[in-house]
Amino acid sequence: MDTGRVWDGLVAKHGEVKGFLGGASDNYWASGRATWNNVILSHLLPLGSPTMLEWGAGSGRITKAALETLPEGSTYYAYEPSAAGRELWEKNLAGADAVMLDETALQSLPANLTHIFCFFVMHHMDYDALWDFFGYVNEHLAPGGILLFDYIPITTTIGARFLARKDRSEWPSYIWHPAQIRWMLNLRAPRLTRREMLCDRARWLEVWQRSE
Ligand SMILES: C[S@@+](CC[C@H](N)C(=O)[O-])C[C@H]1O[C@@H](n2cnc3c(N)ncnc32)[C@H](O)[C@@H]1O
Repeated sequence: MDTGRVWDGLVAKHGEVKGFLGGASDNYWASGRATWNNVILSHLLPLGSPTMLEWGAGSGRITKAALETLPEGSTYYAYEPSAAGRELWEKNLAGADAVMLDETALQSLPANLTHIFCFFVMHHMDYDALWDFFGYVNEHLAPGGILLFDYIPITTTIGARFLARKDRSEWPSYIWHPAQIRWMLNLRAPRLTRREMLCDRARWLEVWQRSE
């Protein structure tokens, strides 16, 4: 069946792409929608007229779900570091009211973002990448703005298994300890305070907020 969604490979080339870009299967896209509706959206409310940045958008499943529910007047940016990922996203989101950014465009965004969120990406981010991300958040989030991210913590069995799995050897996985995340955020983004932390057996979700 032609779903109209584009995806040209499971594993992106190491170096240029850093990992899995997201699949085209119905299940994968449905889980993106469920995550947006049930997990992410509820923690971003009240949204008002958000100016939102999605960090590591891959092939665009979360972008698509987000654009279906965001209020009028929203501004939506998506950042994806890999050229292959940006190309897939552009095809899947053709005509959508959202802007894809490369690294250069990302740096020139004004510091007025009301929400930054990063889903299913932090296991691709090494120490330097996290350092840059949290520094970016500190500089670009508007007063009162929300940062929301998930990760697979080393403190869970799934985190430990994820690290050990041989089928992930095409690219490195970074399985963070919650204390490392908190330490780095406190250092790099001292304007932010943690508001919520939700733990399940596989992924932990944290919500941080910039002071007014
Ligand atoms: C598993 S995909 C998830 C894509 C999307 N967030 C989703 O849930 O469908 C991981 C994405 O993270 C991107 N990525 C890797 N390192 C990154 C970094 N340092 N900053 C932002 N994105 C990164 C990859 O290129 C890839 O598109």
